[in-house]
Amino acid sequence: MNDTLSTLNWLVEAGADEAVAEEPVNRLAAKAAVQPLQAPRPAPARAPAPIIEDDAVGGAMASAAAATNLAELQAALEAFDGCALKRTATNTVFADGVVSGRILLIGEAPGRDEDRVGKPFVGKAGQLLDKMLASIGLDRKTNAYITNVINWRPPDNRDPTPEEAAACLPFLRRHIELADPEVIILLGAVAARHVVGISDGIMKLRGRWLEYRVGERMVPLMPTLHPAYLLRQPAHKELAWRDLQAVREKMKALGLPQSATQSN
Ligand code: URA
Repeated sequence: MNDTLSTLNWLVEAGADEAVAEEPVNRLAAKAAVQPLQAPRPAPARAPAPIIEDDAVGGAMASAAAATNLAELQAALEAFDGCALKRTATNTVFADGVVSGRILLIGEAPGRDEDRVGKPFVGKAGQLLDKMLASIGLDRKTNAYITNVINWRPPDNRDPTPEEAAACLPFLRRHIELADPEVIILLGAVAARHVVGISDGIMKLRGRWLEYRVGERMVPLMPTLHPAYLLRQPAHKELAWRDLQAVREKMKALGLPQSATQSN
């Protein structure tokens, strides 16, 4: 009894001076004897397992690797359904130009005009690109070959998502191998990011030679400004012109032919 009283006094001094429930609970009783207040709820129905889409990147890699020439690669790309952009595009945009000139240009993605025609750089930016190329003796009818990182037009010309780019990249890498260029020109920051994995701004990157591995060879690669950017910022054309002069010097050093239509 004394023990009980002194325990109660101790509890009151500690501030525990209210009962928390109407009925006392014997907390020493065996757990099994304690009745649950509510009937246990039935376990919620398990959410259906998510549908896992095909391995788009794996499919792209297998299909690109199986192509042994550019015509097969184009056919493989046209048959490939792993990039969501294809569903909204009119055409698959593969490439344009003459691959034997050994000069490869890589842009970002088709726009409205390219989607309609099915060829890269046929709109306003493409017209400026043709003039830039002509200034160093390049011409897509003679010695320049052009493709893009992305082969289908992103709706409203938005940036491609990482998933869309990842599904196109195995085709681009195989495209570069099969085209076997001596010089690569990258047009703009998006192409630079995906092809050489460098996210520095294009202003920092442009004008400096980088290298791209094609099999056992390291191919010189020049990042420069995208012609669509130059249409918005014509004052920067001079920078692109300087980059192209470096390409012209490289072509001379490699003994690559320049077309007769060169303009200065
Ligand atoms: N811009 C690009 O990057 N590629 C095209 O084909 C057209 C515009």
